[in-house]
Amino acid sequence: MKKILFVTSELYPLIKTGGLADVSYSLPEALVNLGHEVIVAIPGYPAVLKGVGTVIKEIPLAGVAIPTGTTIYLSSLPGSKLKLWIVNCPGLFDRPGGPYQNEVKEDWPDNAYRFASFCRAVVELVIHGNSLGWLPDVVHCNDWQSGLVPALLSLQANRPLTIQTIHNLAYQGNFPEEMLAELYLPQAWWSWDRLEFYGKLSFLKAGIVFADKVTTVSPTYAQEILTPEFGCGMDGLLQYYADKLSGILNGIDYQVWNPEIDPLIHAQYNAETLALKANNKLALQQTLGFKKSKSTLMVGVVSRLVHQKGVDLLAESIPKLIQQKIHWVILGSGSAENEQALLALAKTYPDNVSVTIGYDEALAHRIEAAVDIFAMPSRYEPCGLNQIYSLRYGSLPLVTRTGGLADTVVDATEDAIHAGTATGIVLAEPSTAALCEALLRAVALFRRKKVWKAMQKTAMAQDFSWEKSAEAYLALYEPLTQKTQCLQNMQ
Ligand code: ADP
Ligand code: GLC
Repeated sequence: MKKILFVTSELYPLIKTGGLADVSYSLPEALVNLGHEVIVAIPGYPAVLKGVGTVIKEIPLAGVAIPTGTTIYLSSLPGSKLKLWIVNCPGLFDRPGGPYQNEVKEDWPDNAYRFASFCRAVVELVIHGNSLGWLPDVVHCNDWQSGLVPALLSLQANRPLTIQTIHNLAYQGNFPEEMLAELYLPQAWWSWDRLEFYGKLSFLKAGIVFADKVTTVSPTYAQEILTPEFGCGMDGLLQYYADKLSGILNGIDYQVWNPEIDPLIHAQYNAETLALKANNKLALQQTLGFKKSKSTLMVGVVSRLVHQKGVDLLAESIPKLIQQKIHWVILGSGSAENEQALLALAKTYPDNVSVTIGYDEALAHRIEAAVDIFAMPSRYEPCGLNQIYSLRYGSLPLVTRTGGLADTVVDATEDAIHAGTATGIVLAEPSTAALCEALLRAVALFRRKKVWKAMQKTAMAQDFSWEKSAEAYLALYEPLTQKTQCLQNMQ
């Protein structure tokens, strides 16, 4: 039995901007189900303070760069098996807006302080775990927000194993040089082989350099980030540490994403009662003011509307395909440019395009259940969860061949159709031409009713539950051998 401290800046269902929140809930749950002890450490944002269960204990916390008055709430997540350590520092976290940005989508100017203090607090707890009666064997950090934890723990003689998971290499937490001193970090870390990254102080680099093991969220992305095209400037660094890097595919939580039991959708269904799925389409068409028709191809998108997700390619493709009479249902929020481009399309084509700007968990489920095709023309995708949800809902994913998308969707080539392995449509490259071509392929396939149904059934039978991936993490949680430890100390 392992004791695992899972450090994260988002946690479903309390605070979520993307897939990190889902993973931070479902991976720890899967580990608990396998008999391990997991505590999730998270900042005390308002939504977290409001949504947690009873606070069992409040412990004052002091230490370098930890604001006075910071306390730790020992609590739990209602309706789950998860225990929480909430870093309660009202000056840094108890404010309106999102976890990283204010209400007008600007990064909080004090993000370096906010997450450095979060990391410091976590490290204090680990070091003084004895007084809490809980010393972790493994500290599993996620993305740049917890990247300083492996670095700070490396200064301790007796420390747990550290893992750094990269959910998205493009977000690196890079800050001005002077933050090194302001955050009381050792001067020796201002070096190309420590935290300095092109003249900036990089939190993610700290995690990559100092963690015992580094993971990312799919095998293909683990390869891609070693190349200049996907490496976001860190490909050289990652190549240097390639021996400690691996890719483990995210799983999904079939208790939350399963059309058979989903309480948020209009009509529940499974592979045997697939005909019922169309009732979800009819219900959504009615809500959106579209003409009700089972035979109209419906394409859905639920996404952060950012460059990564190829939303601009979609916006360019929709007018080109308007003759196809597709129903487009888009939900998301992101850059003003993408939001405006999509809203303009909804205005021009009100009978075919619906765009909802915002974050809406229930609508996300209803779209998953209603659509025939779920589109993710991402430029890169570390894992991607929505295509995996879509498989289970029999809503065939249309995806770019990259990262986790490439690892989870089998293209409907004639060979794959005959072999019964096809589960979606894969674009060779993220371009408008390739996207239009793929969508036309979808239109043609949708007319081949038998083939379509067979693909839906194959898609729904795929199993991306967490158990397998959780086992892969457990293998990684084993201590370093002495040989690896020696090698690392020499670096
Ligand atoms: P990423 O983490 O890059 O945003 P993922 O596919 O891993 O991409 O995860 C996205 C998660 O966020 C999914 O659970 C998806 O349903 C959810 N999501 C994204 N945008 C919205 C939105 N506007 N409303 C509701 N859920 C959303
Ligand atoms: C990131 C990635 C996404 C991945 C998620 C969870 O947000 O963009 O591809 O699924 O993290 O790991």
